[in-house]
Amino acid sequence: MANGDNVARTGAIEALLVEQRRFPPPPEFREQARVKDRTPWEEAERDFQAFWAKHAEAELHWFRKWDQVLEWNAPWAKWFIGGQLNVCYNCVDRHAQSWRRTKAAIVWEGEPGDSRVLTYQDLHREVQRFANVLKSLGVQRGDRVSIYMGMVPELPIAMLACARIGAPHSVVFGGFSSDALRDRIQDAGAKLLITQDGAWRRGSIVPLKQLADRALAECPTVEKVVVLRRIGATAGAQMVEGRDFWWDELMADAAPTCPAEALDSEHPLYILYTSGTTGKPKGILHTTGGYLLGVHLTSKWVFDLKDEDYYWCTADIGWVTGHSYIVYGPLSNGATSVMYEGAPDWPEKDRYWQIVEKYRINVLYTSPTFIRTAMKWGTEWPAKHDLSSLRLLGTVGEPINPEAWMWYHEHIGHGRCPIVDTWWQTETGMIMITPLPGVVTTKPGSATIPFPGVQAEVVDEEGNPCPPNAGGFLVLTRPWPAMLRTFWGDPDRYVQTYWSRFPGRYFTGDGARKDEDGYFWITGRVDDVVNVAGHRLSNIEIESTLVAHPAVAEAAVIGRSDPVKGQAISAFVVLKAGFRPSEQLRDELREWVADKISPIARPSDIFFTADLPKTRSAKIMRRLLRDIAEGRVLGDTTTLTDPAVLEEIKRQYEETE
Ligand code: WT7
Repeated sequence: MANGDNVARTGAIEALLVEQRRFPPPPEFREQARVKDRTPWEEAERDFQAFWAKHAEAELHWFRKWDQVLEWNAPWAKWFIGGQLNVCYNCVDRHAQSWRRTKAAIVWEGEPGDSRVLTYQDLHREVQRFANVLKSLGVQRGDRVSIYMGMVPELPIAMLACARIGAPHSVVFGGFSSDALRDRIQDAGAKLLITQDGAWRRGSIVPLKQLADRALAECPTVEKVVVLRRIGATAGAQMVEGRDFWWDELMADAAPTCPAEALDSEHPLYILYTSGTTGKPKGILHTTGGYLLGVHLTSKWVFDLKDEDYYWCTADIGWVTGHSYIVYGPLSNGATSVMYEGAPDWPEKDRYWQIVEKYRINVLYTSPTFIRTAMKWGTEWPAKHDLSSLRLLGTVGEPINPEAWMWYHEHIGHGRCPIVDTWWQTETGMIMITPLPGVVTTKPGSATIPFPGVQAEVVDEEGNPCPPNAGGFLVLTRPWPAMLRTFWGDPDRYVQTYWSRFPGRYFTGDGARKDEDGYFWITGRVDDVVNVAGHRLSNIEIESTLVAHPAVAEAAVIGRSDPVKGQAISAFVVLKAGFRPSEQLRDELREWVADKISPIARPSDIFFTADLPKTRSAKIMRRLLRDIAEGRVLGDTTTLTDPAVLEEIKRQYEETE
């Protein structure tokens, strides 16, 4: 494993700085909470399959009940075999047919200040019409639909319409480049693309249709394109006759009713691409019954959702957090899910707090990066607003440092709100390690304990459980309903990536330690994945992109720790003969990466060097570069072909600092 020594070291440092503060659930919170005691854990430990089955029966609507709860041929899982259901029916129809029909399902705030409320009845109407639009464009059960949109209500409408007719969707984050979109459409083999004219971002326009056109030039499987009008201008892009259709025109002609299809519990629901340790993004496949149960129950218990709550998850639906905890989990519960289109500092740095005040948000779920950014902006911004409606706070995406946790607790929660630090991944589909806020005493910086029914362990290189507080690798030791089923089109890589390091157990790629109370402390990725502001990027993908630039011979990319973003990208670049380092070239390379992958991947710093440290098997020793970038004593250098290369980089680096 690449950075085993790194884990051990982090573990040792962490153990010295043991966090002593404890926050038991406030009694008034506990009294009202959905889960008040340890019963769910006890039930799940007696029989985890019976536990999940009990809630699948009580919480979800099935057209046909399953014959078998779980078939586990490690690493292949099937949940609720023989059962038939529809995710869209569970998220929309059953509420639209109940007293909730006039309840707000989606409350949407546009970046320019416009807003919309869709009740469950409204959502039911829109989703049925759009499902008919999909059918009229030739989309059938099993066909893949790619979606490249910003945070507009039509995005969940499109997703739910796909789920309704059994067409797996593949949402591509609207901040991705046309190259990234092209790769994802090609891998999924999508038949249809749904996009919009443009998206608002800090008052300017992201020309989504134009970017989509560039991608589509190399995507022969896409037959038709639906374009939503959001900004009212196509930013120069043309509608292609016979291929492109306006959303509103298709909807005007669509039939009003479309039944939700009874789908097999293992029917593919969606593919979502995430970065792995190689350059090629992995298409994570989630299916129907198990996924819905996982996101339903975690939404209900972790966020303690009540019918009167206004719940707001600030993530983008282009990431799994938005799929599971803006769309499927909350809507399955009949909750009110708030959605915001834009940036947290537009028009001012209090936009989030203004939204909390405007809608009287009760439950807020956001990222450590945002919290650290808000800390940097200063307490005067939240202090300007009435945040008294908040009763529960959550975080996700990266480790939260205790200082940021305390700031969130004091300046946003005013000491009143429990904080749920939720650990999970695109692959897990659902929250896996988390407090239940009415039961579990929290410790700032720890995601605490596994959700009922989930089993996790920290193991050493050999796969043996680590003693308390020793750093090791985080593994999951039991199948769970929302787990990924495979990589789209690449089952071998699925086995290789997660199940070969510790056979029979799922390897998360994260380092962790477990303390004497059984609380998990996640220390971050131990593989070639960087986590910038909660966004997962592959070192190798960024390196390949740099090397594709005409001036670059070789590149090594590392994530160095950053006080706000968690990690920032540093690139070490070797130029081809005939090119000279310059400020201009540095800027050009940074923009090159932003343009080819996404602005998220733009390196914070680029360092020109004559050579890179390599092992005898020609592997770049990224961890040594990280030691340099973070000003640490160099780790083991004995496997290097030429240690002098490293000394030279270190000397130059320190000179330029
Ligand atoms: C990686 C997964 C799951 C939604 C967002 C990211 C890191 C996630 C936590 C947390 C420490 C966390 C891990 C994980 N991570 N949540 N609460 N504490 N680290 O999804 O892009 O699939 O990334 O994010 O490193 O492996 P993702």
